[in-house]
Amino acid sequence: MADAAPDLIDRPAESRVQTLRRATHDMHERLDARIMQAQPFASRASYIRFLEVQRRFHADVAPLYADARLQLVAPDLAARAKLALIEQDLRDLGAEPAPLTDPAVDPSDLPAALGWLYVAEGSSLGAAFLLKEALKLGLDPDFGARHLAAHPEGRGLHWRRFTQALDDAPLSADDDARAVAGAAAAFARVRALVDDLMPK
Ligand code: HEM
Repeated sequence: MADAAPDLIDRPAESRVQTLRRATHDMHERLDARIMQAQPFASRASYIRFLEVQRRFHADVAPLYADARLQLVAPDLAARAKLALIEQDLRDLGAEPAPLTDPAVDPSDLPAALGWLYVAEGSSLGAAFLLKEALKLGLDPDFGARHLAAHPEGRGLHWRRFTQALDDAPLSADDDARAVAGAAAAFARVRALVDDLMPK
């Protein structure tokens, strides 16, 4: 029947990652627009402010990449951490990273931590576009834009291996809700850092 009620149509269940994407889609759109409004590639000085946002966010999630329980979910997790590359990018540009003292994530909440990791890993997809802009400033994956480089196996495959691990993790419905809350908290944290550190 053409006008059957839509909720009676048999649809495949949404994967965990699809849920995370849907739940944070608007936050991502607004963050992307807000970052571009600050023109992070207008000059090296402006790019350094963007790097400082990245550094603080990746310092938040660094303990998660090193967490043995989370490494059971994604066995290559430790190798995915970006903080050291971001700090080297800052040094390349003559900006010495200052010590950080305000960790924003509770690593003991494992499902929420997976939400934070979803956001950190997903940001490497958008980095393809950001790297093209960084090249125009004379930066590249060996100088100043190390953390924006694609993984040797390719961004797409590297991302799919992470999302597959996330989708395969045995979580309860309550855990899934905490993962969504963790992803939303991660986007909110990055937004607050951008508002603090990247003037429009
Ligand atoms: C100006 C800055 C940004 C631009 C232009 C941008 C752009 C993009 C693009 C084009 C994709 C989709 C890539 C694809 O599907 O192949 C993407 C995905 C994603 N980005 Fe961004 N992004 C930006 C900043 C960020 C930041 C700062 C974060 C978080 C810290 C972030 C988190 C994500 C996530 C989680 C995904 C994966 C969504 C999914 O497929 O589940 N992005 N971004």
